[in-house]
Amino acid sequence: MDPNTPNHVAIIMDGNGRWAEARGLPRSEGHKAGAEPVRTILKAAHREKIRYLTLYTFSTENWNRSKEEVDNLFTLLVKYIDQETMELFTSGVQLKGTGDLDRLPKMALDTLREAEKITAVNTDLTLTLALSYGSRAELARAAKQIARKVSSGELNPDKVSEETLLSEMWTAALPDVDLLIRTGGDIRVSNFLLWHIAYAELHFTETLWPDFGESHLLAALEDFRSRKRRFGRAG
Ligand code: IPE
Ligand code: IPE
Ligand code: MG
Repeated sequence: MDPNTPNHVAIIMDGNGRWAEARGLPRSEGHKAGAEPVRTILKAAHREKIRYLTLYTFSTENWNRSKEEVDNLFTLLVKYIDQETMELFTSGVQLKGTGDLDRLPKMALDTLREAEKITAVNTDLTLTLALSYGSRAELARAAKQIARKVSSGELNPDKVSEETLLSEMWTAALPDVDLLIRTGGDIRVSNFLLWHIAYAELHFTETLWPDFGESHLLAALEDFRSRKRRFGRAG
């Protein structure tokens, strides 16, 4: 693996609402405009030989938005997946969903499952959409699963390790994040992949998600290459 290229890039795609408001448009227009950068960034990530791209698409906390906004977001998700599945399939991209997927509207879940099935054979790049995802909910659920296994005698508590915990997480199949990007100007992680970002390099940009393009991704990769990763070792 080339240490100059992050194996796993995760993105908090923020700023759609502000992008729309700045143009006097409803927030929904910002979400609609947010589909184009997903296409652009996916293509660029593929070309840069990034193996895992994980996008924060809808958080556990986003359920607290208005029903109108939530419905709109899932309608756009279904549209995006319907439009892109064949392109993903032919270009070698595997699409996956992660999070509390049982909470998704049936239409969204069915569409996602179908696209996962179609693209399952692909191994170039795994595109994971975090949907109804929150790290605290994920960790609490993993703890519950482990407690169940311990109380049924299936698991020895002395054998519980980092790997055990990870294996019970929605994101068990994802490797550690190397580079975390957040658009939209806020310097926070908003309950995203807390386990996997333990040693990630963090890149924050003021650019709003609908304006995020290939040049912004390349700048983030350049920033990544300039970092000295020590993982706790002496420099
Ligand atoms: C990110 O954009 C998309 C989702 C969270 C679904 P926002 O909708 O949070 O946009 P801002 O932060 O209000 O500008
Ligand atoms: C994070 O953005 C969630 C997604 C991008 C899906 P938010 O807009 O929900 O985050 P906060 O509320 O500003 O922390
Ligand atoms: Mg936001």
